[in-house]
Amino acid sequence: MKTISTIQKFRKWRKGITGSIGFVPTMGALHEGHLALVAESNKTCKNTVVSIYLNPAQFAQCEDLTTYPKTIEADLEKLTNFRVDCIFLPNDSEMYPDGFSTRIQENNLSCLLEGKSRPEFFSGVTTIVAKLFNIVEPTHAFFGEKDAQQLRIVQKLVKDLNYPIHIISCPIIREENGLARSSRNDYLTEAEHKIASNINKALQNGKKLLISGEHNSQIIKDEITQIIGAEKLLRIDYISVADSHTLVEISGKIEQDILVSVAVYLKDTRLIDNFSYSISSSR
Ligand code: PAF
Repeated sequence: MKTISTIQKFRKWRKGITGSIGFVPTMGALHEGHLALVAESNKTCKNTVVSIYLNPAQFAQCEDLTTYPKTIEADLEKLTNFRVDCIFLPNDSEMYPDGFSTRIQENNLSCLLEGKSRPEFFSGVTTIVAKLFNIVEPTHAFFGEKDAQQLRIVQKLVKDLNYPIHIISCPIIREENGLARSSRNDYLTEAEHKIASNINKALQNGKKLLISGEHNSQIIKDEITQIIGAEKLLRIDYISVADSHTLVEISGKIEQDILVSVAVYLKDTRLIDNFSYSISSSR
C-alpha cells in the first residue's frame, strides 16, 4: 500500500498503472460506509486508489472543519484490510496553492435540498472532485447513496464535463440501530446515537406507507415529521419527497420515482439520510 502526498509523485506512479482504476475519494475518519466503497472497488477494478483529504472548500465558516474527526493512523490501519494500491494524501497547499481562484459549480441540483441550507457546499465538492478526477484519472469512482444529492451532482459533473469515468453508487451502510454511518456520528454520545436512530425509523415508516399504496407526498412527509419531531433533541432542517432525478419537490400525488430525504440536527451535529422509492416497480 503506497502513500503519496504530492500530485507530481502521484502522476509518476499513475503512469505505470495499467487496467481499471477504482477511486474512492474520502475526507478520512473512515467508517464501514467508506470501507464498503473500497470493497466494491476491489471487486470491480484491477487497481484501487483512496484519497484522504479534508476539503476546506466544502465547509462554510460556521461549520465543523476544525472539529471534523481526524483519525489518519486508524484510517490507514483500516485500509490494510483491503487491496489498496495507493493512498493519495495531499495537504492544503498541494490542493489549493497560493493564488488558486477557480471553482466548479453545478447550477441546478446544487441549489436544492442541502444546497439551500449550505449554499457553498456543493461547489466545494465539485471543485475538489474535479481536481481529484484530473489527478487520479480513474476509470471508476465510488460514491455512497447516503449522500444521495452529492451522488447525483457528481454524475452530472461527469456527464457535463465529459469525464470518461463510471460512477458507481453503493448502498447506505447503517449502524445496528439503523442510523446511517457517517463520520459525524463520532460527535454523538451513546444516548444520542439511540435518539438519532429515530431518523431512520421515521424514514422506514414513510416507506411502509408508500408500499401500502399511500402516494400523497404530504402524508408521507407528515408521517416522517411526526416521528422525528417527537424527539425533543432532533431539529428538522428539511424533509423532502422529491423527483429522484431532478430533485424537484413533489406536491400532491407521487407519480414518479422519488428520493425521500431528510436533514436533521442533533444539537450541532447535522445528520442526513434518505431512501429511494420506485413507483414504477410498485405498480
Ligand atoms: O463525501 C465526501 O466525503 C466528500 O464530499 C468528498 C466526495 C470526498 C469530497 O471531498
